[in-house]
Amino acid sequence: MKERLEMLEDIEDVLFTERQIAVMVERIGQEISRDYKGKNLLLISVLKGSVVFMADLMRSISIPARIDFMAVSSYGSGVKTSGVVKINMDLNLPLEGYDIVVVEDILDSGKTLHYLMELLEGRNPNSIRVCTLFDKPDRREVDVQASYVGSVIPDAFIVGYGLDYAEKYRNLPFVGVLKPQVYE
Ligand code: IMP
Ligand code: MG
Repeated sequence: MKERLEMLEDIEDVLFTERQIAVMVERIGQEISRDYKGKNLLLISVLKGSVVFMADLMRSISIPARIDFMAVSSYGSGVKTSGVVKINMDLNLPLEGYDIVVVEDILDSGKTLHYLMELLEGRNPNSIRVCTLFDKPDRREVDVQASYVGSVIPDAFIVGYGLDYAEKYRNLPFVGVLKPQVYE
């Protein structure tokens, strides 16, 4: 209780409540279920940020789907991407024959996904698309298009529902804007 209150003190504003997130996730789940009917869907969760989104999204998909995980880090503990993407854990499944949806928490500069897409495309999947819960298009530095987006958000640093700052706040059930004094 005390620890949760401590986390809440670092939050400036609640941007999306649990309920609002659930509505977005359900909508994306329906879109993917419709678009991938009869296909060979493989959801690839990009850890760690997308773990909560993935867990909810896969349950809102009504067609057969396989899942796999990949762990990457690009930030260290700052709030801006270094541009250097490190693969901390690779996939178990070969990608040939699969229709892939890469599941991300947030699309910011685009560098992480750009790097990942090139890597995954090189493994010859049937098709590959991006699904991101949040998108900050104002901050894009390289061209990456997401086919499924929960919500476009302004340029603020957000945490919760899987999203972290320095590995903290991932377990908040809602999404909030972090007070700038926490990272300044
Ligand atoms: P990009 O390579 O700049 O697009 O960064 C994407 C990654 O940066 C995401 O997968 C997150 O891990 C992290 N990130 C970007 N913006 C935020 C944010 O507002 N809060 C928490 N993590 C973020
Ligand atoms: Mg992160």
